[in-house]
Amino acid sequence: MSTVSVAVVIVAAGLGTRLGHPVPKAFVEVGGRSLLAHAVDRVVQVPGVDQVVVVVPDAFVEDTWALLDTPLLTVVSGGADRTASVAAGLSVLVEHVDVVLVHDAARCFTPPDVFEAVVAAVRSGDVAVVPGLPVIDTVKEVDADGLVRRTPARASLRAVQTPQGFDRVTLDRAHASGTSATDDAALIEALGLPVRVVPGSDLAFKVTTPDDLDRAHAVLTTSTT
Ligand code: C5P
Repeated sequence: MSTVSVAVVIVAAGLGTRLGHPVPKAFVEVGGRSLLAHAVDRVVQVPGVDQVVVVVPDAFVEDTWALLDTPLLTVVSGGADRTASVAAGLSVLVEHVDVVLVHDAARCFTPPDVFEAVVAAVRSGDVAVVPGLPVIDTVKEVDADGLVRRTPARASLRAVQTPQGFDRVTLDRAHASGTSATDDAALIEALGLPVRVVPGSDLAFKVTTPDDLDRAHAVLTTSTT
């Protein structure tokens, strides 16, 4: 196996207003640890990770250095949207990194084996790899007036998660376009490059609403992840 150096950029700079907490979402605690700390706990179990970059709100940079106890750590302040926060993380990657995984702190219970599957797919030649799950609901595309435009075939849809893995040079190129998107894979798609979907995990759900926080508590009390 060739020697490939992997970095994980964890974006945690969102305010998480839908959660309704006074602190940014990644710093909300479940079982006595912040969502960010839970995410880092799992990332450091992934073999071959050489750098963990955590992107947080400017006011939290100092506290984050103190809070997270890992020798692989770099902490930087984030941007106005998720894409800008990822770009801030990419700007501090160490030189020898070839594979970059971008992960939402809000998906803090994603198991290490999902990271390993994403890394393996990038290692085997895919420039962009995302974990995804089949969609349960029928999904409609609607216009601004709420009228349905079309109904994509459900069997062809995937709800995508993080970590999303990339060849570093390709991800840098995608971010150089300066456009924003809700995930990094969309920037790769805009370049006309292929993005592979690998199986995701129910545990990679994104903590967004108070109900998700209840689910996070339930995960902690019923599993050993
Ligand atoms: O808002 P959303 O839930 O889609 O955010 C996904 C992830 O992106 C979260 O972990 C959030 O902290 C991060 N984010 C960020 N910087 C922003 C907005 C969101 O790091 N400006």
